[in-house]
Amino acid sequence: MLKSFEEDLGRVSFDVEPMKFKHKLIGHPSLSLENLAKVLPELPKHQVMYSKALNDLGINFDRAHIDHKNGMCLVETIESIKINPSYIAVKNPENHPTFKTLFHDMESDLTKLVQMKKKGTKAKDAMFWLFIASPNAQTPFHFDRYSNFLMQFRGSKEIAVFPPLDQRVISAEDYEAYIDQTEKRPAWKPEIDHLAQKFHFDVGEALHIPFSSGHYVKNGPEDVSISLSVFFHTDETIKLSNAMRVNHRLRRRMNKFGLAPSEVCKSSRRTAFKAHILPMANLDGGVMSRFL
Ligand SMILES: [Fe+2]
Repeated sequence: MLKSFEEDLGRVSFDVEPMKFKHKLIGHPSLSLENLAKVLPELPKHQVMYSKALNDLGINFDRAHIDHKNGMCLVETIESIKINPSYIAVKNPENHPTFKTLFHDMESDLTKLVQMKKKGTKAKDAMFWLFIASPNAQTPFHFDRYSNFLMQFRGSKEIAVFPPLDQRVISAEDYEAYIDQTEKRPAWKPEIDHLAQKFHFDVGEALHIPFSSGHYVKNGPEDVSISLSVFFHTDETIKLSNAMRVNHRLRRRMNKFGLAPSEVCKSSRRTAFKAHILPMANLDGGVMSRFL
């Protein structure tokens, strides 16, 4: 039996399709707005990013705290978030003692899931991201570099999740550039909206967002939203990420000759090979491009 989720997650089509189910953490004291108002100012400043509430799916989500400041300090932002439209994103809150047990329980559940789905021996590089946002705030279109389970603790949302590794949604170049830690972000294209699965998301619910699935979120109008994501890697997502990094470093060199590296995909032997040679990728792209 899992500690954080209501079922064993056997029916999750892991990293293939999004799926909604229930979590067991409703009312967890660490995730009340009152506790967060005490805890967040104790975290290192660079872990707590906040901005105006966003209302455009095309905004660069990673730069919102720089480009769309709300003019308030963190304490004012938390205290007035129901009436002053704002958005707070917290990286690695598990570093604070209030989240330690919650994080370890979650990590242990995810390792059971990874083993059950035969994706490796454990959930790797797990981390929390916490989101607190005003009614009607939006999370712009983006994708994450990890597999993801999102859980709702207060308020509600509408969430759109796009198919993973789908070049109608995000180009191979954009996937590779973002995975390789560049500033480039995939653009929002309203004409692809019909490709998304859309979920109404309420307190007590959890949603699996597959690795590399584009997504966006619109908060409900009735209350502040508090949600928690757990990001993690499997052996498979590490392999795909490393192959994408190799492709990104090769693509510019190969483009000069009218060539492009082969596409990264789960079952390809070339993808597995590229993942193994990542350390060489900066050494001699010209030589490597003959084989890739
Ligand atoms: Fe996300």
